[in-house]
Amino acid sequence: MITPVLLCGGSGTRLWPLSRKSYPKQFARLMGDESLFQASARRLSGAGFAAPLVVTGDPFRFVVTEQLAQIAQAPQGILIEPEGRNTAPAVLAAALWLAQRDAGALMLIAPSDHVIPDADAFRAAVLAAAPRARGGDLVTFGIAPTRPETGYGYLELGQGADASADTPQPLARFVEKPNAARAEEMLSAGNFLWNAGIFLCTAEAVIAAYTSHAPAMLDAVSAAYDGAANDLGFTRLAADHWVEAEDISIDYAIMEKAANLAVMPFRAGWSDLGGWEAVWLETGPDAEGNVCSDHATAISCENSLLRSESADVELVGIGLSDIVAIAMDDAVLVAHKSQTQRVKEAVSALKARG
Ligand code: GDD
Ligand code: MG
Repeated sequence: MITPVLLCGGSGTRLWPLSRKSYPKQFARLMGDESLFQASARRLSGAGFAAPLVVTGDPFRFVVTEQLAQIAQAPQGILIEPEGRNTAPAVLAAALWLAQRDAGALMLIAPSDHVIPDADAFRAAVLAAAPRARGGDLVTFGIAPTRPETGYGYLELGQGADASADTPQPLARFVEKPNAARAEEMLSAGNFLWNAGIFLCTAEAVIAAYTSHAPAMLDAVSAAYDGAANDLGFTRLAADHWVEAEDISIDYAIMEKAANLAVMPFRAGWSDLGGWEAVWLETGPDAEGNVCSDHATAISCENSLLRSESADVELVGIGLSDIVAIAMDDAVLVAHKSQTQRVKEAVSALKARG
């Protein structure tokens, strides 16, 4: 059985104003009737999958239980981080939890903010990668790159690797978030895939990787785990030790350093919804290129996303090209579609204003 480890502690500032500190994008109904978190949990259920283990922050614990209940799922456990310290400590805490029950347990470390339209194909890829992970490798999932994206990790295919295969392939190197020039080089080199941010490995392989590459973190997170309190069924990690763990992603802390890596090519469609432009693209623009929600109307517009998140706010665009307009009860964003990555600047500016 494979335990999905659902990471859902990120804040997703690039999708402001829908994504808020108190209600980040993974819990919002960004696409369709389910939240991205619910879609991730559902995608990783069924034959071969155990109930999920969730790692999140204190403010989201009840959203997590409520949203899982809505899709008739009960988690194996919910680990609560005293504060968000990025994905490296979160993944390790999950590995310690699982190893205590079964050291050889397979864990599928999954972000909760992705769109993978073909869930069957994804489950099949995970199950096909399982034997390799059981053998002790850290299996990544690789996506064919289409642009020199600097917000992703890159996977350099190893000698003899075949990116069109349906089995795990050798991985030479993991390069997290390159600069623009490096990203261009890797795109044109042709032997790199994007890292989907999804990893399949045994709990003991994860712990061994931290023992080699991040021993101080292993000490801090182990102490936080040993000192954890059971609070109404939630596992609350001990804050005094947790804050000693470095605030770093698993990509930098482990994946760039580990040698026992493999890559499972995945070709059936994947997006990390990293900004409004991606949401526009993934929500199926009409013949004019527009996406309009309920309570939004486009008149002579093209290639625009018009979304009202409030039944009390009617949003109308006239004569717009390449515009993103998002209306909430208490905030409105209007931006050129090519500039939507800059939404995080708005969030910083608003934060500074208090
Ligand atoms: N529990 C918990 N605690 N979850 C976290 C935390 C934390 O402190 N920080 C982030 N997460 C969750 C996010 O909610 C998201 O679901 C996932 O972990 C990944 O974090 P991101 O912050 O979104 O990472 P990224 O997008 O910059 O980069 C990663 O994903 C890319 C693909 O989307 C890397 O793995 C890249 O290599 C990869 O290409
Ligand atoms: Mg992300």
